[in-house]
Amino acid sequence: MADVRVAPEVQDLTRIERIGAHSHIRGLGLDDTLEAREVSQGMVGQTEARRAAGVILRMIKEGKIAGRAVMLAGQPGTGKTAIAMGMAKSLGEETPFAMMAASEIFSLEMSKTEALTQAFRKGIGVRIREETEVIEGEVVEVEIDRPAAGNVAKTGKLTMKTTEMETIYDLGVKMIECIIKEKVQAGDVIAIDKVSGKVSRLGRSYARSKDYDAMGGTTKFVQCPDGELQRRKEVVHMVTLHEIDVINSRSQGFLALFAGDTGEIRTEVREQIDGRIAEWREEGKAEIVPGVLFIDEVHMLDIECFSFLNRALEQDMAPILVVATNRGITQIRGTQYSAPHGVPIDLLDRLLIVSTQPYSPKDLRTILDIRREEEDVEMSDDATELLTRIAAETSLRYAIHLITASSLIAAKRKAAEVDIEDVSRAYTLFIDIKRSVQYMLDYQDQYMYNEIPQGLQNGGSHAEPMTD
Ligand SMILES: Nc1ncnc2c1ncn2[C@@H]1O[C@H](COP(=O)(O)OP(=O)(O)OP(=O)(O)O)[C@@H](O)[C@H]1O
Ligand SMILES: [Mg+2]
Repeated sequence: MADVRVAPEVQDLTRIERIGAHSHIRGLGLDDTLEAREVSQGMVGQTEARRAAGVILRMIKEGKIAGRAVMLAGQPGTGKTAIAMGMAKSLGEETPFAMMAASEIFSLEMSKTEALTQAFRKGIGVRIREETEVIEGEVVEVEIDRPAAGNVAKTGKLTMKTTEMETIYDLGVKMIECIIKEKVQAGDVIAIDKVSGKVSRLGRSYARSKDYDAMGGTTKFVQCPDGELQRRKEVVHMVTLHEIDVINSRSQGFLALFAGDTGEIRTEVREQIDGRIAEWREEGKAEIVPGVLFIDEVHMLDIECFSFLNRALEQDMAPILVVATNRGITQIRGTQYSAPHGVPIDLLDRLLIVSTQPYSPKDLRTILDIRREEEDVEMSDDATELLTRIAAETSLRYAIHLITASSLIAAKRKAAEVDIEDVSRAYTLFIDIKRSVQYMLDYQDQYMYNEIPQGLQNGGSHAEPMTD
């Protein structure tokens, strides 16, 4: 077989982004009928839950239903967060997807309900339409006079044409600057926003394609526009309600969005904004785009937050709420009562529950293969087999972590490929939960403050050594 090599600098370029726990997920991997493909877009197995997630996406895209809520429930490491990431990816740029961990609301410098309100409003988009006048055409000639004396303003003329007409425009100082900055020259097709004076280059005119040599390979060619030079154009902006809130509530305006310290936003501000948007909707200037609010680890919310959610879901501007949890029957935070998933029954009743199932060894292997490729690690068949068994007997996450560890161990012995001994070395260097618990049981008297829960006494954990 021919050995194809990639020049190192080329390889570097393709791997600039950092690899995160879910960076291999590029969508939900569904076909047009919402059936989950076995392996697609980085997603493996868990077909029922992915299908359900697809149905929810369809609901969101149709945009008609407000305030539905879905819960992803299942054991740790069964892909709940991964499915939420997949949903976010397949929604695209246009639909807002706000993501938070429930515990975040306790750490911000604002009340819990304010934090939740902000999260809700991050999940709702507003599409605002604006009509502007633009001049769009091919540049025939640019003439800029640069007076010798420095303090005299520059003057200039711009000749533009469409296939049907040609006009000469006088240029002001600001326009001249824009044109110099954009390096506009004869043969470019440009658009000038009449209100803001912003100049944008749309490409080179096809009529000039013979000058190709002089311009290099990245030039984009476009047709010379037809019709009138001046035309009305619709511009669409997408913002979330939260962004509008922040811009209107603070003296520093939108800068607070970058600083992240948005503080509490007063109810009056929100009411005004909602009123204004309602007017715009009636005039056809704005449209509401309900998105998704995803709250991970939802059992970390407390009873006040849960009752807030009950109410918030009933407003007509609510996003679709997706929550995830790995808890069984457990205490509801802030109460002495227990409930399934640590969520009060009245909220549970409003949720559609999707459960995720543990993976089969075959799925585990495919996920590990995808992760291995994501991390650019070569691994022998035997080693992958062992890693799959480790995943089945300990946890998928632990096995995923061992990929990097064992590749570093392989690199140390200058091997290009991770072999079975590297994986078992990593397995002995880093212990998983079961062995960690066993270790603590064995050496408990040497630790501080130890209390052994009933269930763990007398080998409640099953730490069996891995047999190769
Ligand atoms: N079906 C899948 N396809 C591809 N990768 C997956 C799949 N399921 C899980 N993973 C990957 O396995 C790892 C663990 O999954 P994830 O974090 O989604 O679990 P979780 O259900 O959210 O667990 P927890 O309850 O502990 O939060 C992640 O790196 C995730 O991207
Ligand atoms: Mg998770």
